[in-house]
Amino acid sequence: MLRVVVLISGHGSNLRGFLDSCAQGTIPATVFAVGADREASGLNHATHYGIPTFVEPLALGEDREKWGTRLGDRIAEFAPDLVILSGFQRLVPPSFVRRFAPMLLNTHPAYLPEFPGAHAVRDAFEAGVAETGATVIVVDDGVDTGPILAQRRVPIIDGDTESTLHDRIKIVERELLADVVRDIANREIAIEEN
Ligand code: GAR
Repeated sequence: MLRVVVLISGHGSNLRGFLDSCAQGTIPATVFAVGADREASGLNHATHYGIPTFVEPLALGEDREKWGTRLGDRIAEFAPDLVILSGFQRLVPPSFVRRFAPMLLNTHPAYLPEFPGAHAVRDAFEAGVAETGATVIVVDDGVDTGPILAQRRVPIIDGDTESTLHDRIKIVERELLADVVRDIANREIAIEEN
């Protein structure tokens, strides 16, 4: 059983899907803690399952490396095999990546390398493309540049708004993340040290 810590910043709907799947036994993983960089509403999903939560904000003007060390120390208390950034809206510093990668995953709401960054759904929508997608990567020092573990296309359909599109992308993100974590647990994906 994989020991997992998840980091979020917002509603945590993907986190909720992940926790539900773990509880149903369809993902061989246990979430030992959920952390956030702010008082994210999604922390309630962890509380619902009796999972410990923590909040480690980046203070105004604070050195990012210092914050990354603090955040990393909170995570390390739970000795995870795997750390998942699931809607975590802060870039983690290089020392944090070195500490947890390659067992450090991120879900992204676009078909990377298309539309990296914090506004991937809006960027795809405004670009007027016919399809975008969802991707699960290993985090590296770049912005959404790490090795791709799984991805799938999502069409943009007539009448879509940014929000309806994002909701459909999230359904795919949840499936991809579940598949990747299952494959890691079953040793069907080997994640290489850099
Ligand atoms: C997800 O689509 C996730 O991929 C995205 O934020 C959403 C979180 O939704 N992450 C990023 O954009 C990271 N740059 P949720 O809080 O409802 O799970």
